[in-house]
Amino acid sequence: MDQSALKKVAAERAVDFVEDGMTLGLGTGSTVFFLVEAIARRVREEHLHITGVSTSSRTETQAKELGIPMIGIDDTDHIDLTIDGADEIDRHFQGIKGGGAAHTLEKMVATTSAQNIWIVDSSKLVDTLGAFPLPTEVIPFGHTQVERRLAAEGLNPVWRRNDAGELVTTHNGNYVLDLHVGKIAHPHLLAQFLDAQTGILEHGLFLDIVNKVVVGTESGAEVLNA
Ligand code: A5P
Repeated sequence: MDQSALKKVAAERAVDFVEDGMTLGLGTGSTVFFLVEAIARRVREEHLHITGVSTSSRTETQAKELGIPMIGIDDTDHIDLTIDGADEIDRHFQGIKGGGAAHTLEKMVATTSAQNIWIVDSSKLVDTLGAFPLPTEVIPFGHTQVERRLAAEGLNPVWRRNDAGELVTTHNGNYVLDLHVGKIAHPHLLAQFLDAQTGILEHGLFLDIVNKVVVGTESGAEVLNA
């Protein structure tokens, strides 16, 4: 199976954890694309009453087109469960997200949610985080100063650009600075450092957030409980 087929395996297993009446956080990315399709199928066939809260306009558009009722995060007092993809997960269930530049909205939805499930293909499971460049979202004012500070710390920051060479901007109009760290030996310490930097709105270290990981493997979906 190719990577995309493994993502679909994970997404279609994770939909079993969706229950009637839930307010559901919907993540972003190619794995979540399969999830939204699978949820819409259940809504259609089983007449489930689901309300979605999305983490990006991409997911929001797809969900609405498929008939999933959507509300904004500020229109609810709770989210029962959020299902999202991830870029890396280590054996302690700590992860990196933000490959799609949506990590600030994803973290807001995830930290509002009572439960979090991640859906990944098996290539996302790693011993140590950091081979995937760690995304940070940086406000435009003073962004070069932020880059200098992070470079001085040896974090190898690189601005994310699109195919036309322009700086990628987030939903919030900010820039994405990817940290090519290689290995993150102490994720909590790095998160603390990044949290303290003026100008960084949010980073892609998602620590102590996920409850369950559904992994798409060649032999089917595997469910790991944190
Ligand atoms: C979006 O910003 C990311 O956090 C995605 O959830 C993550 O990159 C996983 O994406 P895929 O499902 O496309 O691999």
